[in-house]
Amino acid sequence: MCGIVGYIGNKNTKEILLDGLKELEYRGYDSAGIAVLQGDTFESFKAVGKLINLEEKTKDFITDRFAVGIGHTRWATHGKPTELNAHPHLGESSYVVHNGIIENYAELKKELMHNGVTFLSQTDTEVIVHLFEKNLKTSSSAFGAFSQTIKEIEGAYAILLVTKSEPDSIFFAKHGSPMILGKNSENENYFASSDTPLIGQCTDVNYFEDGDFGYVNPQEIAIFDKNENKKEPNFSKLSTNKLSAQKDGFRFFMEKEIYEQSVVIADTLMGRVSESEVLFDELDANLFDGINEIKLCACGTSYHSALSASYLFERYAKIKTSVEVASEFRYRQPIMTKDTLFVVISQSGETADTLETLKMAKEAGLKTLVICNVDNSSMVRLADATVLTRAGIEKGVASTKAFATQVTVFWMLTLFVAKLRNTLTNEEIAKQIILLREVPASVKVTDSMHERIKRLSKRYLHGHGFFFIGRDIFYPLALEGALKLKEISYLHAEGYPSGEMKHGPIALADPELFTIALLPQHLLYEKAKSNVEELSARDSTICVISALEFDKADDFIQISTCQDYMLEFFEMMVVVQLLSLEISIRLGNDVDMPRNLAKSVTVE
Ligand code: F6R
Repeated sequence: MCGIVGYIGNKNTKEILLDGLKELEYRGYDSAGIAVLQGDTFESFKAVGKLINLEEKTKDFITDRFAVGIGHTRWATHGKPTELNAHPHLGESSYVVHNGIIENYAELKKELMHNGVTFLSQTDTEVIVHLFEKNLKTSSSAFGAFSQTIKEIEGAYAILLVTKSEPDSIFFAKHGSPMILGKNSENENYFASSDTPLIGQCTDVNYFEDGDFGYVNPQEIAIFDKNENKKEPNFSKLSTNKLSAQKDGFRFFMEKEIYEQSVVIADTLMGRVSESEVLFDELDANLFDGINEIKLCACGTSYHSALSASYLFERYAKIKTSVEVASEFRYRQPIMTKDTLFVVISQSGETADTLETLKMAKEAGLKTLVICNVDNSSMVRLADATVLTRAGIEKGVASTKAFATQVTVFWMLTLFVAKLRNTLTNEEIAKQIILLREVPASVKVTDSMHERIKRLSKRYLHGHGFFFIGRDIFYPLALEGALKLKEISYLHAEGYPSGEMKHGPIALADPELFTIALLPQHLLYEKAKSNVEELSARDSTICVISALEFDKADDFIQISTCQDYMLEFFEMMVVVQLLSLEISIRLGNDVDMPRNLAKSVTVE
C-alpha cells in the first residue's frame, strides 16, 4: 500500500502536498517524496522514513505561485526503502508517482535499457516515466505519449505524472489501486488515494473507475475510459466529517479493516512471490544456517498466528517449531539453544512482554527475526532481521487485517524455508504459490455472506457461552474466533481443539451453549465432523462453518468450495471476524474501542 497526492493551483503547493501525505501516511511510511513544477522549474525532494524527515528536508522550499505538484508515501515492494527507490521517479523532464505494481516491468525495463536508458532505482515504477519519455519522442502530444504508456503497462496502478512538456497539467491513470479527483470553487484540483486529504480543501470529488485515465489542468478535466472513450466527470459532494470519511462508509474501522484484507494480503504478497519461489529480499539466506528449531513468541492474536505457523513450518519445512506466550516465556527461565531461530510476532512492534523475550533471546546469542506491521518499531530496531506485514495502520482494537497478513507472511516463510531445506519439491512449492495467490480473492467479503451472518447473529446474543472448535491449524483459528468474540461482545467464548471436547468441556453442552464449528472439507473433515456430532447429541446449539452442508447443524454458514484447506482457513477467518462484529453491533457495543482494552500494550 502506498499513498499518492496531487495538486494544481495557486496556493502553497508544498504545504498542500505534505498535509495530504500526512493523512495517507498510514498507507506506508518507509519513505516519501514530492515533485513540484513551477513555470519551467522542477524541484523534487525525497526522504527515507517518516514524513517528518521530508518536512525537514523541504523546510526552505517555497511555493508561492501557480504550480503543479505530486507526492507519494511508500511501503516498499520492489527495492529496499532507500532514497533512490522513493517516489517521485524522474525521467528526462518528467516525474511520476505510482501506487500498485507494474507486472511487466522487467520486460519493459530490459527493452528500455537496451535502448540506452539508465535506471536509478530498483522499483517497478521507474519504467513508467522512462516509457513515457520514450513515447514523447514519437507522439504529437504529451497526452498521446501518456496514453500509449498506459497501453503498454500491465498490472495494478494509480499513477500521477507531471512533465515540462505540459507544465500546467497532471496526467493520471487508475486501474486496481484507489485514486480520487477533487475540485473546489477556486478552480483548484486535487488528487489523492482516499478522500481524507481532500476534506476541507475540496467540495466535490470524482471517484475514478478502473481503466480511467486522462489529464487535468486549470482549463479542463479530461477523463477517458478503458476503451479510450471520453467521459464526463462524475462529481459528488464530499463529506465534511473526517472520521466518517476515514471509515469509507463502513460503520466501524474494524468492519473496514475486515473488508480491506483482500487488498492488504495482495500488498503483502507483492514482489515476494514469483511463479516458482518465495523471495524475501529483506532476509539474508544465511539466517537459517545452522538452525534446527524455530521458536515463535507473541501475545494475543499474534500468538494465534504464530500457533497457525507452527503447523505449516513442521508440515512443509520439516523443522521443529515451538510456540510460546510471551508473558509466560519471559519468567520461566527457558532453555535457549543457539541452533534455534527466535521469531517474535507483533502488529505494533511495541508489546512489552514480546519485546522482553526478544531481548532475552538476543542476550542468549540466538539469531532473531521479527514479523511486524510497524517499521522502525522497537522490535524492528532490535531484531537481527525483519519481515514487514503490509497491513497498513490498524485502527480497530480487535486485530483483523494484521492477523491475516501475519498468517500470509508465515505461509510464505514456510515455503522459503522449505526451499532452503529441500523439504518440498519445486513443483510442490509452485503449487503452494498458486494457492497463495488465491488468498486475496478468498477473503473478499461478498454481500450475500455478510447479509447471512448479519441475519444469523441475532440468534447468538445470549446463552451461557461459546465454544469455537477446530482441528489442526483450524484450532488456532478457533482460538482467534473466540478471542474476537469476547473482546468486542463481552460474551464468554473459548477456543478448543475439536478432539478435546470429550475430555471435559462437553459437560457444559446444552441448548444454551453455542458451538461454532470449523469444518474444513480438505483437512480432517470426518474426524472433526464426529466431534461436532458428539456435541449435537448433547443438544448443544451448533453453527457449522464449512463448504459442505451438515444436517446436524442448527445453523450453517457456507464457504466456497476450493482446492485447499489454507484457502478454507482464510475464508473461515473472515466469517468468524464478521460474526463477532455483527453480534457486537447488535449488543450496542463500541466495536472499535471495546472496554478495558488498548491497541498497543506497552506495559507488562
Ligand atoms: C486482539 C489483539 C491483541 C494483540 C496483542 C499483541 O485483537 O489485538 O490480542 O494481538 O495485544 O499485540 P501486538 O501484535 O501488537 O504485539
